[in-house]
Amino acid sequence: VSDLRPVSDFYDDPGMEWSLRYAGPHLHPGSEDATAALAERAAHYGMVPYGIVLEVASALGAPARYLARRFGAAIVCVDMDPRMHAAARATAAREGLTGVVWQVLARTERLPLKDASVSGAWSQDALCHMEKEPVLAEVARVLQPGGLFAFSDFIARHGFTTGDLQTLRTLWAFPSLFSIPRYVAQLEAAGFEVLLAEDRTQALGEQRPLGIRDDDNWWPRFAARWGEAQAAARREAALAWRGIVAEGRAGYAMFIARVPPA
Ligand SMILES: C[S@@+](CC[C@H](N)C(=O)[O-])C[C@H]1O[C@@H](n2cnc3c(N)ncnc32)[C@H](O)[C@@H]1O
Repeated sequence: VSDLRPVSDFYDDPGMEWSLRYAGPHLHPGSEDATAALAERAAHYGMVPYGIVLEVASALGAPARYLARRFGAAIVCVDMDPRMHAAARATAAREGLTGVVWQVLARTERLPLKDASVSGAWSQDALCHMEKEPVLAEVARVLQPGGLFAFSDFIARHGFTTGDLQTLRTLWAFPSLFSIPRYVAQLEAAGFEVLLAEDRTQALGEQRPLGIRDDDNWWPRFAARWGEAQAAARREAALAWRGIVAEGRAGYAMFIARVPPA
């Protein structure tokens, strides 16, 4: 299998400019709509209000600020990228949420949190960059009995190939991609009960147009700033993912899992 691209390379300065244009500060497919859809499921399955919620890979913190308001919660934002935290901290201060969203610089495979110390956990489209087994075990460890883990991720679907994985390792910094059944099995192995595993590929595909009206002007400006090779590399990544999704071999899913009540 090909070399794994470093995550920090994917989210370098040109990578962030590109991601921000097409996703916005909710740095995942579907943007704020997807955050709201996951929050609706989490509320339905019993995410408690006024809790302490761990966010696994919080990036720019837009989902964390949304959750703080949606659930009246404090959010522990774990991410390994200090530039993400700096941006998240500044926005939280501007929005009056300092002291409600806390930035913790750490890798999610070893959370610097005590056992059973959070009432809920959250993640959007970031486990794709991680070794999922240790992260799921860590989330189970830090959740209180009865606590929910609500998350979404990129998923493998029927027909996903070794070649697809190689492409995603080199272009997207994905070490692996789980299918829904594999996620369910791994969540159960980590001690969770799985309450919801929902394929969102079609819903996300239908939600938005692929481009933005002035793409023809934006791309040359991007290439002038960062170089043609960067522009070509970002386009290649976008087209590669889009192609695999269009052929049905990968997509997106949402999960609600619960640590059994005591
Ligand atoms: C797609 S962004 C996450 C988007 C964010 N969840 C959101 O919805 O706005 C991926 C983030 O994962 C972080 N990340 C990737 N692997 C990580 C790891 N092993 N430990 C901590 N953070 C990680 C990156 O630094 C980056 O900020």
